[in-house]
Amino acid sequence: MARYPDDLDRWRRAARISAAAREVGSAAAVPGARRRDVAEAVESYIRSQGAQPAFPANLSRNVEAAHFTPPPDDEQTLAKGDLLKVDVGAHIDGAIADTAVTVEVGGAGRHENLVRAAKDAVEAAIAKVRAGVAVDELSRAIETAIHARGLKPVGNLSGHSIHLYLLHAGKSIPNVSGMSTDHLEEGEIIAIEPFATNGEGAIENGEFGHIVRFRKDPGPSDPVVARLYERFRTLPFTARWVDPADRPALAKARRVLQTYPVFVEAGGGLVAQAEHTVLVTADGVDVLTRSDA
Ligand code: CO
Repeated sequence: MARYPDDLDRWRRAARISAAAREVGSAAAVPGARRRDVAEAVESYIRSQGAQPAFPANLSRNVEAAHFTPPPDDEQTLAKGDLLKVDVGAHIDGAIADTAVTVEVGGAGRHENLVRAAKDAVEAAIAKVRAGVAVDELSRAIETAIHARGLKPVGNLSGHSIHLYLLHAGKSIPNVSGMSTDHLEEGEIIAIEPFATNGEGAIENGEFGHIVRFRKDPGPSDPVVARLYERFRTLPFTARWVDPADRPALAKARRVLQTYPVFVEAGGGLVAQAEHTVLVTADGVDVLTRSDA
């Protein structure tokens, strides 16, 4: 039996806002722009549309594949030629969308093959989506598209199913074949996110970044921390979103927080990513995060 989410319209609205936020981020990613300003442009756009960021804007550069968001005092600027992943998402009362594009800052076109490999791969996988199809068919399509450009898929990063208030809901969409025995179900919402690299084809944990989330309810002992938990629950957030006066309390709450490491390509390769959130339908797919959706 088909299991579409309740209130599909809310999911569609969150996805349209996410797609537009992705365009806001890529347009702002010009040489000399501060990373912090790009992240804030994305996040304030999402809020201005009546949604909330589902996670801090991820602005990972070059060998960084994912999970970098700027800290509050970050003064670093983007340089011409940077390969920037703009990975963003909005939610409306827990209906989440997740989407990404890779831009070469300043547009010199030196990394065109990487950017196109990720884009080809996400489109090849989307073309396979329909109820009942083996997830491995999507993985194979991703792998084949990236190999066709002489590059490697990042084997230890995957797409994922999305549930209410849950960004990574359990079903993985691997970027290499032979990993999944699952099938897609009608009404399911999944994010497909291939990563292409000219490196080793794997990521490893780099330094701890600036994305955190509560592992559990911290309890009432620190009123500031309790208030932050009320606000963010177990969704990812970042110190930029926290009032400066409350940041020392957050820094002391490490025990109840999970801090995400930045994912870095293991062979020092450059990484490009493309991502769409899609709805699986009986006879195909509805790409919720297309710009023109
Ligand atoms: Co994702």
